[in-house]
Amino acid sequence: MPLIYLDKISSTNDYLKDLLGKEMLQDNTFVVATEQTAGRGQMGNSWMGSKGSSISLSIYKKQLKIPLKDQFKIAMSISLAVRQVFALFSEHVMVKWPNDILIQGKKAGGILIENTIQGNEITSSVIGIGLNVFKFSMPEITKATALSEHSKLAIKLDYLLEILMIQLDKSLTEMEQISYPSLKFSYESQLFGLGVVNTFKRSNQKSFQGIIRGVSSNGALIIENQEGLKEFFQFKEVSLKL
Ligand code: BTN
Repeated sequence: MPLIYLDKISSTNDYLKDLLGKEMLQDNTFVVATEQTAGRGQMGNSWMGSKGSSISLSIYKKQLKIPLKDQFKIAMSISLAVRQVFALFSEHVMVKWPNDILIQGKKAGGILIENTIQGNEITSSVIGIGLNVFKFSMPEITKATALSEHSKLAIKLDYLLEILMIQLDKSLTEMEQISYPSLKFSYESQLFGLGVVNTFKRSNQKSFQGIIRGVSSNGALIIENQEGLKEFFQFKEVSLKL
């Protein structure tokens, strides 16, 4: 896989998107930065990458032909790939809808996916991944944690990065061949909050109690409310407070 290694950058996603405007890049090109000074998170949040403590990387995936209705396949593949690698080092690693990685219910990583859409298809994607490996100050995340806090193993950042890139490369290459239902099955098996009562917040800030029942065929989160009715939530329509 082609790899661009940077010392310090504002945002690996932005760097990759800039580069795409200037030159042709190969499929599965990775951009990795030791330090990120103006990283972007989901919902317009910021995301810092601290030298020696975190992993900040972006991947360019091109020549995709993913129908828009299946767009959640990318988030599921990436979340599961990261979870699988983290699970080599720690117990209790789960995915949180739509694209977070949790350890013991606390956030250890997040994913920011920026797709290019043509017609009804996603044709390419810039996938940004930010992971907390060693503890550092993370004021932008409520309930943050880092992998090393939960691991009995001595983690080496370079080694972790290497196996992570191999797994991500593999998962992204296989993604289009795997059916949506089969990915959804794996994703739900690792989904935080599945089957238990939790408090959620709607986009109008109203709280309610419900139980996650899974994800739908188009990536919506299915929550059973207190009346026993299943509600379907798209991105940004609901949040689960950690
Ligand atoms: C989140 O808010 O949970 C998503 C965080 C995604 C952060 C990563 S770090 C590498 C890449 N570059 C960015 O600017 N953001 C993503």
